[in-house]
Amino acid sequence: MKYFGLPVFCFCVLTACAGNAAKPAIQTAGYDEKTIPAGAPRDLIRYGRELILNTRAHMRPYVVVNMDCAACHISGGTQAKGGSFVGIYGEFPQWNARAHRMIALQDRLAECFLYSMNGRPPAYNSREMTALVAYIAYLSRGTPVGASPDPGVKLAKFAPPRPASAQRGAGLYAQRCAACHGVSGSGSAAFPPLWGSASFNTGAGMHRLWTMAAFVRYNMPQNAPGTLTAQQAYDVSAYVLSHARPRFQGSRPIAFPARPAKYF
Ligand code: HEC
Ligand code: HEC
Repeated sequence: MKYFGLPVFCFCVLTACAGNAAKPAIQTAGYDEKTIPAGAPRDLIRYGRELILNTRAHMRPYVVVNMDCAACHISGGTQAKGGSFVGIYGEFPQWNARAHRMIALQDRLAECFLYSMNGRPPAYNSREMTALVAYIAYLSRGTPVGASPDPGVKLAKFAPPRPASAQRGAGLYAQRCAACHGVSGSGSAAFPPLWGSASFNTGAGMHRLWTMAAFVRYNMPQNAPGTLTAQQAYDVSAYVLSHARPRFQGSRPIAFPARPAKYF
């Protein structure tokens, strides 16, 4: 094998220079119980999916917001550009600018509990954490460790033609969003809140303007996704983010994980 290593390597480098490098395979693995071996793994993977879909029902002590993970990870994290988990397992461990260290998938999950759920993470050796990791690993089958999901899977940053305007966004919100999320943004039993005390806190990924604009453009309004322009997605997101929401409380007692460096 040793003798073949070098020529193969050279070949790859040459083709890459010529612009012909093989593209990574498109990651389309989804959730299909028939593909999971019966027994303990299936039970754990199934439970992980159930936790994403019905987080509040199973993990009340860990959740402050009035929503489940699936409010932002559409269809249990299988929807491209809708918070997809497909293929992400192989990207961990990864450098985390906020924590100033390499983080494991468990640490990334903990972040969504701290910020998006405005709550606290379960212990890393809990059945809940183990199940969430098992589910995401399962959804990532076929993506090699170190590879990234297909670029079409994740939310990508785009710029609006004009700077975002919360004022224009207010009109759009009334027309296109308020029917479900409420005039006061507080949602209901069926629809997640967009601001106020039951929404995600200021540390959440969704609190970044471009991230919300990308999410909204591809996934909202839920009954007509893809109908907003880039400008409208930015304007309405700027309006949503102009309202008050919980601040991340760095002083709350948190056993897991080590607190992100930013908040010391
Ligand atoms: C308010 C919306 C929201 C909620 C609720 C939410 N997340 Fe997220 N999550 C996001 C966003 C937005 C990102 C992408 C952040 C980024 O690009 O930095 C993300 C990223 C992630 C990632 C990393 C994905 C990647 O591509 O590396 C994981 C894992 C994750 N969330 C798990 C969860 C789990 C588990 C829950 C429930 C306990 C949850 N999230 C709840 C919005 C949310
Ligand atoms: C037909 C009802 C409906 C309409 C209209 C609608 N949404 Fe949603 N929205 C939902 C539902 C339901 C979810 C949870 C995810 C899912 O199940 O698709 C959601 C999730 C969200 C989320 C992520 C979760 C959260 O609470 O932060 C954001 C952000 C969002 N919507 C913004 C908007 C914006 C902005 C508009 C208007 C352009 C809009 N939505 C219009 C039903 C709706």
